[in-house]
Parts: sequence; C-alpha cells; structure tokens
Amino acid sequence: MRILVTGCAGFIGSSTAKNLLDAGYDVVGVDCFTDYYARWIKERNLARVLDHPKFTFVEQDINDFDPTAHLGAGDAIVHEAAQAGVRASWGTSFSHYTHNNVSGSQALLERVKDLGLSRFVYAGSSSAYGDALRLPTLESDLPQPISPYGVTKLAGEHLCRTYRVNFGVPCVVVRYFTVYGPHQRPDMAFHKWCKAALANERLPLFGTGEQSRDFTYIDDAVQGTVAAITADGAVGETINIGGGERISVNGTLDLIAKIHGAPLNIDRTDKQKGDVQHTAADVTKAKTILGFEPKVSVADGLREEYAYIKALYDL
Ligand SMILES: NC(=O)c1ccc[n+]([C@@H]2O[C@H](COP(=O)([O-])OP(=O)(O)OC[C@H]3O[C@@H](n4cnc5c(N)ncnc54)[C@H](O)[C@@H]3O)[C@@H](O)[C@H]2O)c1
Repeated sequence: MRILVTGCAGFIGSSTAKNLLDAGYDVVGVDCFTDYYARWIKERNLARVLDHPKFTFVEQDINDFDPTAHLGAGDAIVHEAAQAGVRASWGTSFSHYTHNNVSGSQALLERVKDLGLSRFVYAGSSSAYGDALRLPTLESDLPQPISPYGVTKLAGEHLCRTYRVNFGVPCVVVRYFTVYGPHQRPDMAFHKWCKAALANERLPLFGTGEQSRDFTYIDDAVQGTVAAITADGAVGETINIGGGERISVNGTLDLIAKIHGAPLNIDRTDKQKGDVQHTAADVTKAKTILGFEPKVSVADGLREEYAYIKALYDL
C-alpha cells in the first residue's frame, strides 16, 4: 500500500510519514510550505524522511495537486495539510483558512473520489467542540466551534462525510487534542515557552493559566493516526485522539520550570478570543476501534520537547 501524507513538512505530517516509512510503507508527501511559520523549521521536519528510498516529495498546494498521478486503488491518504492556529484565524487571514482547510480538502476529495482508496484519514481537531458541554467529551457531543479555525476544521469533517456518503470515499476523522513534543509548531505554547525559558526571555501566557488541556504526545497521536489507516470498523467514524491526562496551563508551566531548573519569567496577558477554557477527550472509541493506548506522560513528553527546542535554536 502506498500512502499519501499531505502537510508532510509539518509537525504531525512529517512525524507520521517517518513512522510509516519505518513500518515499510511507500510514502508520497505533499506540502506547499505555507508561510505561517519559517520554512527552515519545516525543512528540518522533512529532513527526517527526505532521503528515504521509499519516500517521494512534491512541493505543491493541495488545491492544485493531482493525487491520481501517485496513487491507485487500495492506496490511502492521511490528510494533515491545513492552516492551523486558533488566534490567527480572525480577520482577513480567515481566507487562508478557507483556502487551505475547506477548498483544499474539497479539491483533494474530489480528485480521489473514484480512485478506490482503502482509507482517507482526516486530521480533525478538538477545536470542533468549542467550549465542550461536558468533560471528557464524546465524539457524539454536538460540535459547536468558537473559533473561525474550528469552523473550517469541522467543515473539512463534513466534506469527508459528504464524499463518503455519495462516492464511498472511506473517510475516518481523527480529532486531535493539543499535540506536543519534538517538532511541535513554533506558534504553540510549549514550543514558545521552552524557547523563551532557554533564551532567558519572558514567557507569554494568555489568560489566568487555570485553563486546562488534554495534551497528546506526538508519538501517541501518530500511533492513533496510523492505526486509523487499517483498523476495521473505522470508516465513517469520528475518533478522539487525546493523551488522557488533563493538566492546567499553570501545571505545565510548573513542569517546564522543573525541567529548566530555574523559575520562569511569565508575562500574563488577556485570554485570547477563540481559546476554549478546557479540553478533555473521551478515548473509549479510540481504544475500542484503533487499539489506541497513549503511553507518554506530559512530564516525560515535555522533557523531550525541551531537548528538541534546545537543539533547534542552539540554546
Ligand atoms: N498540532 C495540534 O495540536 C493539532 C490539534 C488538532 C488538529 N491538528 C490538525 O493536524 C494537522 C497538522 O497540524 P500541525 O500541527 O502538524 O500543523 P503544521 O502547520 O505543522 O503542518 C501543516 C502543514 O500543512 C502545510 N499546508 C497547509 N496548507 C497546505 C496546502 N494548501 N497545500 C499543501 N500543504 C499545505 C503547511 O505548509 C504545513 O507544513 C492540521 O490539519 C491541524 O489542523 C493539529
């Protein structure tokens, strides 16, 4: 089976591609290096797989990319490409979100609808839930996003269902809950905080720090994603992928201070619009269908991310 990974130079895409190559699959990666964050960081992500003999890379926007030139019946897609980030999704930059997340997903689904794929795994987001009505949150709970980003990620889920129901594209949605670890995006909190701590700079903190998240270590997120490519009973399902350990933001800052070995210099500012207060995944479905078992604690995962940031910026 050949697997196309979109967004392959990104955090989760490159980590997924590496896992698939290590498992012996042929992988095609596509990414257009959007300018949301520095190209050199994405090139470092991609460097982990670029020279692998079973890897092919195409630099292109998924809106223009023709997957049928690379895939045939029985092959699979892991669709990670998107404009990520809640805070940047307001105002005129919303057009990046509709272009990459909505039009891009539609273009991809449209081009593969008659290909006879074995699986189409869509990278969904816990942001689809908005301020969840209950914690932990079940996939059947009504998604009510409160950020423009969340709206576009949910629209992508609906497009998957639309192409599954009408054309039989075998879509599965994996809804990630705050993924972190080595290669995490530079706009994400742990990345910014580890970098600021190491550079002896002030750490930006939005809100009181009492907000909490279900943090998912990258290897656990990849494990759930890869299982979704072949698991029986996954097609047509939406499945939460969470680390199973909800910690307040203040709690994670304490962990970083401990790893850093010195107190942090925190700059507290207002809560940002679109940020939800709490997230927690009910992962019963992931356990049942995907055999998903998150293995890495936030304390251990943060230590890995801290070491990665230290090396990335030579700090
Ligand atoms: N990181 C998280 O915590 C998290 C949580 C929930 C959902 N997700 C979803 O997981 C996926 C991966 O997120 P990430 O954190 O790795 O982000 P990322 O920004 O590191 O990776 C996304 C990649 O997609 C590429 N891309 C964007 N639009 C494209 C287009 N039109 N054509 C080709 N390439 C394009 C970007 O250049 C980037 O390299 C996204 O779909 C995101 O919405 C991530």
